[in-house]
Amino acid sequence: MKDNEVAVISRNSLTIKTLDDKPASFQISQVSQSIGEIEKGDFAHFMLKEIFEQPKTIEDTFRGRISPDHTSLVLGGLIDIFPTILRAKRIIIIGCGTSWHAALVGEYLIETYARIPVEVDYASEFRYRNPVLSPDDLVIAISQSGETSDTLVALRMAKEKGATILGVCNVVGSSIARETDAGVYTHAGIEIGVASTKAFTAQVTVLALFAIKLAHERNEISAELFHELLRELTEIPAKIRTILEKHLIIKETAEKYKDAANALYLGRGALFPVALEGALKLKEISYMHAEGYAAGEMKHGPIALVDDNLPVVVVAPRDHYYEKIVSNIQEVKARKGNIIAVATQGDEVLREMVNDVFEIPDSHPAVTPLLAIVPLQLFSYYIAVLRGCDVDQPRNLAKSVTVE
Ligand code: AGP
Repeated sequence: MKDNEVAVISRNSLTIKTLDDKPASFQISQVSQSIGEIEKGDFAHFMLKEIFEQPKTIEDTFRGRISPDHTSLVLGGLIDIFPTILRAKRIIIIGCGTSWHAALVGEYLIETYARIPVEVDYASEFRYRNPVLSPDDLVIAISQSGETSDTLVALRMAKEKGATILGVCNVVGSSIARETDAGVYTHAGIEIGVASTKAFTAQVTVLALFAIKLAHERNEISAELFHELLRELTEIPAKIRTILEKHLIIKETAEKYKDAANALYLGRGALFPVALEGALKLKEISYMHAEGYAAGEMKHGPIALVDDNLPVVVVAPRDHYYEKIVSNIQEVKARKGNIIAVATQGDEVLREMVNDVFEIPDSHPAVTPLLAIVPLQLFSYYIAVLRGCDVDQPRNLAKSVTVE
């Protein structure tokens, strides 16, 4: 339905009118979801079901887009507009909450591989700050629901200023999907838990595909790296399954920290937004105060919080930030903080240094955010359950924020 329309549904009829009582034109289309998707099945909560669905939803996001031999990548919704995308001098990504965190991951990926300047803004700030925009700018609006008011108004404003607008939405036919010039659907399926999980990993997958496509078309990466990145993406679902298989370790760790008053999450590079997202998940559903920080910023303030009551979750896989993040861990350790590390499988050095470890399989840094977030989603989930919180419908929150 369009804005300002009203539907009247009875057993045998459907009418849609405008608010001033005129008949509205409409088309009926069948949704592709099955009824099973809106049932919990054997899971205690939708959020847990959605966390466990991620191997499938990520596969649904790249299926039909990456060729089986990893030599080509097609983003159908962008084919016609790609010449315009290639002319863009700057990319601005907007969104709210979890979608904003996905945008930050996208910033790292696009700048690293496609070498185009990227800015990320909260849609709620962007819409009011009279940004300088021109037809050389490409604005990407990210939204699971496609109905978030701040994001919708921000994209309308950017359109008026002449920028090209792309959408990354999950809900097919949503307002944001309709109002953008072109876009890529995330295909994560219906997300019911208020705390976004599978929609986030689907958004990051789309942004990774977009960054790889752009890098390839702009000749910024070799054919070998192009194939390698696509292959690495297709290996993510199996790797997430190995993380999910060890969910009981995460549950046991949650038991240890469930009564903490605060938590600090640290990460670097594309894993800094993963730290932000991990902290948001904990806040939203367990009501435990949590802060996400770029690990290098710790000494500029948050280190004052560290004592033997503070759990510090450090996203520390073996990548080119490893040495730096290990020294951050040592700083926390020296102040008796309790460290939970998200570490590469088999990293015994880190295991010796920290209190608890959530292992993730080794992967290319471009796709590690898709793995690193999964144990943090489970950690928040188990803490919230242990604290007796309403996981799927946390207090004061709505699934889709259609008001300012
Ligand atoms: C995510 O866990 C939150 N519930 C919230 O931050 C959400 O991501 C935000 O409101 C944006 O929603 P959207 O993706 O539907 O635009």
